[in-house]
Amino acid sequence: MMQKKFLSLIVAALPGAARFQHPIPVPDEVAAQSASVTATHTINLSASRPSDASAVPADFVSVGFESAFLPSYANDFSANLVASLQKRMGVPIVIRVGGTSGDRLSINPNQTEDTKCVGSNQCPDGSAATFILGPGYFDGFKKFSGAKFSIQAPIDDKSLAVNATNVRLYVNGVEKAVGKERIGTIQVGNEVQLYEPNAKAYVKDVKEAIRDVVKDLGLGDADRRFQVLDTASGVVKGGNQFGVKGIFTAGLQDVKGRIKYVGEHYYQVSGNMPTGTIQSSLLNHNAITTRFKSYTPSITYLRNNFPAISYVFSETGSALKGSTKFQSYFGAALWSVDFQLYAMSKNVSRVSGTQRPVAKHSLWIPRARLSEPGPQVRAPFYAQPFVAGFIGKSAAGKRGVVNIDLRTPFVSAYAMFEGEVVKRVAIIGLREYTGSGQRNAVQVKLKGLSDSVRSARIGRLHANAGTDAGGFDVNGKNITWQGQQWSYKVDQGKGHGEMTRGSVNVTEGELTVRLPDSEAVIVYLND
Ligand SMILES: *[C@@H]1O[C@H](CO)[C@@H](O)[C@H](O)[C@H]1NC(C)=O
Ligand SMILES: *[C@@H]1O[C@H](CO)[C@@H](O)[C@H](O)[C@H]1NC(C)=O
Ligand SMILES: *[C@@H]1O[C@H](CO)[C@@H](O)[C@H](O)[C@H]1NC(C)=O
Ligand SMILES: *[C@@H]1O[C@H](CO)[C@@H](O)[C@H](O)[C@H]1NC(C)=O
Ligand SMILES: *[C@@H]1O[C@H](CO)[C@@H](O)[C@H](O)[C@H]1NC(C)=O
Ligand SMILES: *[C@@H]1O[C@H](CO)[C@@H](O)[C@H](O)[C@H]1NC(C)=O
Repeated sequence: MMQKKFLSLIVAALPGAARFQHPIPVPDEVAAQSASVTATHTINLSASRPSDASAVPADFVSVGFESAFLPSYANDFSANLVASLQKRMGVPIVIRVGGTSGDRLSINPNQTEDTKCVGSNQCPDGSAATFILGPGYFDGFKKFSGAKFSIQAPIDDKSLAVNATNVRLYVNGVEKAVGKERIGTIQVGNEVQLYEPNAKAYVKDVKEAIRDVVKDLGLGDADRRFQVLDTASGVVKGGNQFGVKGIFTAGLQDVKGRIKYVGEHYYQVSGNMPTGTIQSSLLNHNAITTRFKSYTPSITYLRNNFPAISYVFSETGSALKGSTKFQSYFGAALWSVDFQLYAMSKNVSRVSGTQRPVAKHSLWIPRARLSEPGPQVRAPFYAQPFVAGFIGKSAAGKRGVVNIDLRTPFVSAYAMFEGEVVKRVAIIGLREYTGSGQRNAVQVKLKGLSDSVRSARIGRLHANAGTDAGGFDVNGKNITWQGQQWSYKVDQGKGHGEMTRGSVNVTEGELTVRLPDSEAVIVYLND
């Protein structure tokens, strides 16, 4: 009797209990609401896809490894990080294995070591170092299941003729390891203006390399998968003989049916450019749009003359000089978000986040006993899941992106369309918050949402310490993307934490987001 009564009480209590449940507050929303608003920006969204929207390929997000260091990256830690990006993408991720060392290598089928650095006092980190690869090197490609690769045909040779044996041993080595379907691209040489005497000489090398590889891999007539140029960041101007126009008019168009990509390299700060501060050089939309102007002639030339060839940034990074904090803390991550989205809005088809173990701007350091401390996930890694989230996995409508000019260097915004419909808006708060004192914010009003948009979710790329955050592995100052983190120490880069996003109501086609300084958000409409 007693027992029966007790049971019926519990049953009666259950539906009522659900009514009194409070939603768990999203920590990043709490942080945003406690920042003080200093300005309001308004974005008028266009009701339909703008005609100048840039198409966004589903494989835009990419990572890159300097060729000779593939064996250092080929471990579970790197594979976990890459898998985290892969699961946010609708198509296989492309890993670029290339760089200066990719031209300065030879292959010895009898060598037991995967790589041996030889003949230079720059071993192994200097760009003049040369390497001999053994067959074990190619096993490194197998570590990244499902990924595709952009590989390099090595052509820098003292005799200024392509060493066909070398090209064939390298390309065939990759083919043997992972099969030709997973070779997305074969880049012919790297930063070729550093060793080619003139444009005609490079064109000749490209033709020879393409001829040999087409034959060895048995590529059909319509198989377009080569990449050319990979011009060094500091020398891209558009006008000289190694500019895109210079190379194509020096005779490259003869093999245009084989060329899929032109690559150039982009570092925000390099060479003899002044380093500046995080605020003046990295967290600054004007710095990005100004630097980008050097690249516009390349992109425009290709679009007008060879629309079947896409333009990519195959090597990128915040800076090649400056402090560790400057190159690789949270300021560099937010720079990467703004840079990648701006490039996307200007018809760049892919951006590879490049790394070599000595580069501070790397997305991660794969293991211990390299020139930079590791293993560590670095702050710039966090830009990649953000950008992948902005692109989305859906194949429902053709993606198109536009940059929304807010007429300030300190806030930038982008709208992502699928077909005619705007699905996501990314907003980046570029004013520097260095981790102490009251954090300021801007308020951003999105107007012109269609009647069908009833609600929106907010994903935040956040660090309590602002630009002082290097991430949990680096200095214990955490960075989160929608509540989630990546760390070697915690779980070897698998990623942890529950995904948390805020919600915002839409009233009469409008919504308002609070954006703290040094934070980036994605507003997901109807998601
Ligand atoms: C948005 O639209 C309103 C009215 O339609 C206009 O007054 C305002 O200047 C526009 N804002 C921007 C940033 O274009
Ligand atoms: C991107 O390319 C498309 C197609 O060629 C063109 O219509 C559009 O204007 C370009 N966008 C920019 C920002 O250059
Ligand atoms: C050409 O490449 C092969 C294979 O890597 C190497 O053994 C040989 O020394 C190279 N030849 C020259 C002239 O460098
Ligand atoms: C590799 O070993 C084989 C058999 O000993 C030899 O014939 C060949 O010359 C060696 N190749 C190189 C590049 O050392
Ligand atoms: C920082 O991240 C680590 C690893 O996930 C976690 O254990 C720690 O509690 C976090 N610290 C703060 C202040 O959230
Ligand atoms: C959104 O609307 C719902 C339903 O009207 C309301 O309960 C909730 O408090 C609103 N949320 C915000 C953040 O205003």
